[in-house]
Amino acid sequence: MCGIVGYVGMQDVTDVLIDGLQHLEYRGYDSAGIAVFEEGEIRVVKSRGRLTDLIQRMEEEGKPSGTCGIGHTRWATHGEPSDVNSHPHGNESISIVHNGIIENYMAVKAFLEEKGYVFESQTDTETIAKLLDYYYTGDPLKAIRSVLAKIHGSYALGIIFRDFPGKIFATRKDSPLIVGVGKGENFIASDVPAILKYTRDYYLLEQDEIAELTADSVTITDVNGDILSKELMTADWDMEAAEKGGYPHFMIKEINEQPTAIVNTISPRIEDGVPHFHLPNLPDDTFGRFKSVQIVACGTAMHAGMIGKYLIERMARLPVNVEIASEFRYRDLLLDKDDLVIVISQSGETADSLAALRAAKEVGAHTLAVVNVVGSSIAREADDVIYTYAGLEISVASTKAYTVQVAVMYLLAIKFALARGRMTEQESAEFCRTLFDISKSMEAMLKDTHECQYYASKFQNAHSLFFIGRGLDYALSLEGSLKLKEISYIHSEAYAAGELKHGTISLISQDVPVIAVATQTRIYEKTISNVKEVRARGAKVLLICKQDAVVDPEVADYILRIPVYDDIFMPLMTIVPLQLFAYYTTILRGCDVDKPRNLAKSVTVE
Ligand code: G6P
Repeated sequence: MCGIVGYVGMQDVTDVLIDGLQHLEYRGYDSAGIAVFEEGEIRVVKSRGRLTDLIQRMEEEGKPSGTCGIGHTRWATHGEPSDVNSHPHGNESISIVHNGIIENYMAVKAFLEEKGYVFESQTDTETIAKLLDYYYTGDPLKAIRSVLAKIHGSYALGIIFRDFPGKIFATRKDSPLIVGVGKGENFIASDVPAILKYTRDYYLLEQDEIAELTADSVTITDVNGDILSKELMTADWDMEAAEKGGYPHFMIKEINEQPTAIVNTISPRIEDGVPHFHLPNLPDDTFGRFKSVQIVACGTAMHAGMIGKYLIERMARLPVNVEIASEFRYRDLLLDKDDLVIVISQSGETADSLAALRAAKEVGAHTLAVVNVVGSSIAREADDVIYTYAGLEISVASTKAYTVQVAVMYLLAIKFALARGRMTEQESAEFCRTLFDISKSMEAMLKDTHECQYYASKFQNAHSLFFIGRGLDYALSLEGSLKLKEISYIHSEAYAAGELKHGTISLISQDVPVIAVATQTRIYEKTISNVKEVRARGAKVLLICKQDAVVDPEVADYILRIPVYDDIFMPLMTIVPLQLFAYYTTILRGCDVDKPRNLAKSVTVE
């Protein structure tokens, strides 16, 4: 995830910016840069790679000297990690750094190209810089407001104008930004750790508020230009807590980031209610040409693929097979150009998934990567790539990366359904609206985690546990079970509820609890029958069902009810309690949540 820091005061600005950016390194980045006022001019230095690469570049080119400037670490979203895509962006009179995603940047770019602007980078950020230049006629605030009226999406922006040396402007929407207040010096930062060494006092910028900073003053105005008097906050976190945004662990921070991650991932792809991916080798009108889809991935990403299978088959009536990459890569593949192979990977570097991709290409299938890390090997080698915009995921147990992979599965299912005449554009628009609505419900759900904590306390001492479900609930159970076992070390298995009786039910006893996921109305009664079977063998049962489900109180020991959506949407809602259950169980057992034993975030060996 990108990081922003800005400084105006008496100290050497380059030192302060580099120091601040170093404290944002944990957020992940692949390039960095700064823009500094030097003798009345804006001087920009930027480089692909680590901050050490930027420092080396400054040693070669001369370290910028001044007392006011902005800096950035970039986590690539639009365009690969490269010098030219690094921030700051702008020209000799305006320089900006940006976090977030501009959804309508293609339209803005077209507008500016018509006016004669030529673009150098592949970033959405360059469109903001050029739009600012277009609107700027000597009044920075006016120009910024005009830009804000034209762009859609999420942004935190730090801006400097050559005409206003010693001044920083900042604004934000749906991407955090704070204004740090010191003595004779002021700061902007995307995150508290960047400024903690210098000050603990800060203002939280709210949506579309604009801050104007000099060394001695901070003025914050609203969209109408009215000056606001804001509450000065004090950070009482230590550095480690600050990096986790005040949360005790990265996992719970990332669980809470899911609603934003969903919106960031889907909204740039939905135009007039219809998903568009703008893939160079898979134009929108060619989605109807495939006779089958093969999804290949590992771990959590494979579980997202399982959800994808149910969605695509149900909505588009197109056959989908899902396979673990380490198996797929050595299979005799019966695929050709009429088959689409989707490789899902958070890191884009998983060795088995990469090998599976190569195997699919070898037999001539069309390959589409769904990847979180821009410019990663899988993203580069696939015929086409859809990036998920989860931002950096630090916790080994994947949460937000999974959810956005699932979100992309929904968009792909719509795309195939439209292409195959199984859905109208109107239905697509309605469907997409529900996805946005779910992100809001998810946010509400995350506000109260007490119930999940309570159930975790009831199951924390289990040695072995089963998750059961049917259809989409089964696919989700696989992920719920993986989350629990990988971090709490409780043995757990996910089983298709109807399959349990064919052998495995012999393991069920009063010491082996069962979590039953039953959110699919069509097969609800069937799952309940299976729940009765395990209950009859003494199992303690937690039933997860829809808010409005009719449940015989005898069926389960505990019932967790989920806000009601149509069956097809339930996985996006139900995943949250499953993640929380795993998280709180792990806390209660005293295990290391973010770094479970024997596991790595990215597995680049076979
Ligand atoms: C590792 C991680 C898992 C992840 C899997 C696939 O095993 O611990 O959380 O799901 O790799 O990773 P990828 O980066 O390809 O999604």
